[in-house]
Amino acid sequence: MNQWPKLDLEDTVGDVLRKTMRGSRLDVRTLAAATNVAEPSIEAWLADRGAPDSNEATRLAASLGMDAQRFQRRAKGAWYPGEVATPLVRQHPQLPHPSNGYVVRAALDEPFAAIVDPAGDPAVLLARLRERPLEYSYILITHKHDDHCDAAEAVASAYPNARIVMHEVDAPAIGALAADAIPIRKADRLPFGGRNAIELIPTPGHTDGSSCFRIGDLLFTGDTLFAGSVGGCFGDRFGYDDLLANIRRELFTLPDATAVLPGHGPPTRIGWERQENPFFSNEESST
Ligand SMILES: [Fe+2]
Repeated sequence: MNQWPKLDLEDTVGDVLRKTMRGSRLDVRTLAAATNVAEPSIEAWLADRGAPDSNEATRLAASLGMDAQRFQRRAKGAWYPGEVATPLVRQHPQLPHPSNGYVVRAALDEPFAAIVDPAGDPAVLLARLRERPLEYSYILITHKHDDHCDAAEAVASAYPNARIVMHEVDAPAIGALAADAIPIRKADRLPFGGRNAIELIPTPGHTDGSSCFRIGDLLFTGDTLFAGSVGGCFGDRFGYDDLLANIRRELFTLPDATAVLPGHGPPTRIGWERQENPFFSNEESST
């Protein structure tokens, strides 16, 4: 059994409100006028002082394209994902960053493994990687932000046989290493160990090159999908609508039991997110 630290959800109700307002291009004044909710109340919730009641949450959700019931449960702090056991995956701390990095093994009876998002203090990360005699075949990088790849150089020099896999649009963030990186193309699969494969899934929206990696019933989502939330949008070509559309089309079509290992916050499952993530609604998830 895998022991996960008990992590807070990545996003507070204020964060969810801020992301949906930005995504819907509504400022506080416009949202207040559209929902008949007082501006100071919205300002307070954005700062996580208090939360909307059921009636207010319903009105806000209607204007922000959210599912009202899910947003209400979120506003009450009434949702947290269930237990997710992933014996092939180990999380590593990326201090000083607040992000999650992982090591995933191809199989328990094989030495092959991949590192997902090498970031944080390189000495700490390398010490952790050396604790087990694994053969690191790949360094999988979900996107270009420092808290997901700023230890790439240190890890690549320590494990020269490990191939870096990163979307070419985001790859300039790793400097000269980008030249040898395996690019990410939709539906491409990389052999992983004797019996497994890594499916590369581009999901632009958080950044233009943001991508997810699927290995059997495991899905590494970086900052695309979090437990009960989605990443913010920092791309030039792709934005909020692309992010949500990509999650619906590429991730929510995976089996319910698929374990989601995000770049921040606790693990979750595809089925739980399809049912409870406030950025999506029941109507669309049944189509
Ligand atoms: Fe990010």
